[in-house]
Amino acid sequence: MTVPVCDIDFYSDAVIRDPLPHYAAMRALGPVVHLPRNGCYALPRHAEAVAALRQPLVFSSAQGLSLSPRVNAILKGSTLNSDPPQHDRTRAVTGAPLLPGALRGTVEARIRAAAEGLVETLVARGEVDAIADLATYLPLTIVAELVGLPEAGQGKLLTWASATFNLFADDNPRAQAAFADLKDLAAFLAEYGRPERLKPGGWAARIFEVGPERGIDPATCAQLMRDYINPSLDTTISATGQAIGLFADNPDQWDLLRARPDLIPNAIEEVVRLSTPIRAFSRHVARDVEIGGATLPEGARVLVIYASANRDERVFPDPDRFDIARDTANHLGFGMGVHMCMGMHLARLEIAALLEALRTRVARFERTGPATVAMNNTIRAWASLPVRLVPGRLADAAPATRAGEDWLDAVVTAREDAGEGVIALTLESAGNILFIMCDQLRWDYLSCYGHPHLHTPNIDRLAARGVRFDRAYVQSPVCGPVADEHLYRALCPATAQAGTSSR
Ligand code: HEM
Repeated sequence: MTVPVCDIDFYSDAVIRDPLPHYAAMRALGPVVHLPRNGCYALPRHAEAVAALRQPLVFSSAQGLSLSPRVNAILKGSTLNSDPPQHDRTRAVTGAPLLPGALRGTVEARIRAAAEGLVETLVARGEVDAIADLATYLPLTIVAELVGLPEAGQGKLLTWASATFNLFADDNPRAQAAFADLKDLAAFLAEYGRPERLKPGGWAARIFEVGPERGIDPATCAQLMRDYINPSLDTTISATGQAIGLFADNPDQWDLLRARPDLIPNAIEEVVRLSTPIRAFSRHVARDVEIGGATLPEGARVLVIYASANRDERVFPDPDRFDIARDTANHLGFGMGVHMCMGMHLARLEIAALLEALRTRVARFERTGPATVAMNNTIRAWASLPVRLVPGRLADAAPATRAGEDWLDAVVTAREDAGEGVIALTLESAGNILFIMCDQLRWDYLSCYGHPHLHTPNIDRLAARGVRFDRAYVQSPVCGPVADEHLYRALCPATAQAGTSSR
């Protein structure tokens, strides 16, 4: 069979901004299409995408998933960029903390508590950016902390993640610009990829405990830190942000979810199907192979377009319709086969926690301005999505924990260590001093969205005195330097007394 040619540049601005008509055109052309402008073949339909993903040694990942050989030379060695049996060995190491059983308990409780606190704060604010204020919060605070990189890495997580996703393309200008960040990440892994430089107890440090026992050498252990650094942020941020956009545009589906919380797990799958945060990844054809009636030669590159397969009308009736009750089985938003997403249980947990917190507090989402598209070669996402959270409390909402009207916005102008485990913050507007008892509180997180540990009994003790942080208030989604005064904003009730430490 002659393979039809599709004359698009898959990674051009035009396709990134408005990809769906191009996917539909490719699916109509045939099961396999040739993309000469990207130097590869593509599988735009569901059946062939699945067939390729189920033959990982033929459609190989071990040569890297990028269309660019110089990028692949750096990426090789992570779980994503390898084939069985090496793949299975490394995945067993990095995947363990992401299994449902490992997430249950402490991690889940922290994520749920953080989601409740965040949503409550945002609903009180009303108008928010669903990306910077809502979607970015859990990945950048709790998940980043669980990974446990040293300070030098924390602030760069978003840059590295989005750079890596830009690099799974051909050598277009976006990929070229990202190359410097990839080298920066490689240098970071070389310098900090050893246990003594990582935060004790974190997932990254754990690789060096478990890896050697399984015969994985330290250099590979360092590369495996990519399993957490690259895919854990942008993907979840994208899906969460697109979920809000989908519910804003389909208020009937939000009403249904509010009435039927049992649909939340399926709603998440439907969001991931329709949004497909990872548009496509490529594979290296390891031997001549027939697929979709075409013969692909050894050495060819083939793009598996998850985003197009997820809208294949042969599998999903009325595929562009957002329907949280539809049968979502076999969608490819998390991939399929041996490389199926290792972090999907964590991603589902984060999104579920947010949707559950929003369900009981938000009647509907209203767009308040134009959304902007994030220009990334691989990740489909909103860069910004301004919405109004129209309040509407359900009877089964968790009890309100904020005082309400008499909260005032206060800038923290000074801070000092007021004793062991106690931080004193001077609030400009309130003109008083706020003491925080902090057994576990750490400065680096105070500079970034507040801190999940503010949900510990410490914050309850503060709350009892009428003082609370606005956990969502932040100027930039990336952690700022500790000295950045404006990041230390707190909400403090007008009636709060200047604190005296009760320790
Ligand atoms: C909504 C959020 C997410 C989406 C849509 C997503 C999507 C995907 C997809 C499509 C793949 C398959 C790649 C392939 O076929 O080659 C994948 C693999 C992977 N994901 Fe995710 N992901 C998400 C969240 C996460 C999170 C939170 C983490 C880590 C904490 C993570 C870690 C990984 C890893 C390590 C792999 C490679 C697995 C392997 O090669 O065996 N992902 N993800």
